[in-house]
Amino acid sequence: MRLYRLPKNGTVDSLELVEAEVPKPARGQVLVRMRAASLNYRDLMVASGRYALGDVPENLIPLSDGAGEVVEVGPDVTRVKPGDRVSPNFLQTWIGGDLEWHHNHSALGGSVHGVLSEYGLFDQESLVHLPSHLSFEEAATLPCAALTAWNALFTGRAAGPGQTVLILGTGGVSVFALQFAKLAGARVIGTSSSDEKLERVRALGLDEGINYRTTPDWERPARELTGSRGVDHVIEVGGPGTLSRSIQAARIGGWIHLIGSGLAPGDAINPAPAMRKGLVLRGIRIGSREMFEAMNRAVEFHRLKPVIDRTFPFDEAKAAYRHLESQKHIGKVVISIS
Ligand SMILES: NC(=O)c1ccc[n+]([C@@H]2O[C@H](COP(=O)([O-])OP(=O)(O)OC[C@H]3O[C@@H](n4cnc5c(N)ncnc54)[C@H](OP(=O)(O)O)[C@@H]3O)[C@@H](O)[C@H]2O)c1
Repeated sequence: MRLYRLPKNGTVDSLELVEAEVPKPARGQVLVRMRAASLNYRDLMVASGRYALGDVPENLIPLSDGAGEVVEVGPDVTRVKPGDRVSPNFLQTWIGGDLEWHHNHSALGGSVHGVLSEYGLFDQESLVHLPSHLSFEEAATLPCAALTAWNALFTGRAAGPGQTVLILGTGGVSVFALQFAKLAGARVIGTSSSDEKLERVRALGLDEGINYRTTPDWERPARELTGSRGVDHVIEVGGPGTLSRSIQAARIGGWIHLIGSGLAPGDAINPAPAMRKGLVLRGIRIGSREMFEAMNRAVEFHRLKPVIDRTFPFDEAKAAYRHLESQKHIGKVVISIS
């Protein structure tokens, strides 16, 4: 089989396409023929040594998000069978319940080898079945970006009709948050660096768009658009450079879902405004397998289609990284494996 590997302290340029033996599944393990993978901002961080969660293996097989077909199962595997279409969960060992610190050490394409490979070996407990209406390329967009947006909007105080959700930018997590918020009947306000991108996400259901380049104090129009009440949920993918503004945009008692910290650098945050408004600042860490299964039921029931910006062939994985890095995309960047 062919797979990509990333030498330790390497960069996107040092990604190597190599040949290896197809592994054999041991007890409880499943061999999956990977058919597609998708990229997340975090994969750029891994490839540039900026992802500081635990130790990254030497010659890491990168990427967390993939979809494929079961080709062989080891002894005692009962959850899946050959021919099933599946995805592995981002945090391999987080099946359900609360996040525990040790789950972080099972992150695909970071702490453990990932999915940019023609075959992958996974514990049966980490796998979920794909929504039946999705292609492998579409399903490969779900494990990180979609599950993070789902976890934010539905596993705490759920978003719903009459509420307003604020999304920042038009990347993978934010576009899924838009789609899920609209499914739930919420109104969505979005920011972006580009008027053209805002036009394109309006076609996906965005109610109001604000260009944060031409309107750097975007929190003001965001509040005004809610009759000065403030928004109920913020999908906070920016970090220190956006968090103070997100706090200003939120309503009293609103929820800020802390998702990203690297896109928008900035100064230290004064916690007082969040305290005075009684906000909930809630860290989100992708999601458990049980959340993934619940999300896939909703995706299938509503025939939700992920937004794919561009799909690259397996041989052009580096170009896919470069495209994500350029931030010209809307939604997801995918690599077709076969
Ligand atoms: N905690 C978790 O579990 C979790 C899970 C997934 C992702 N994340 C994090 O969430 C963030 C987004 O990830 P992603 O994969 O969705 O990224 P992505 O697809 O690469 O999207 C990045 C987009 O963010 C927007 N952006 C850049 N700078 C911005 C700024 N200063 N203010 C507002 N928007 C800005 C840009 O869109 P426009 O050009 O439209 O502005 C850009 O295209 C990353 O920091 C990632 O590490 C965390």
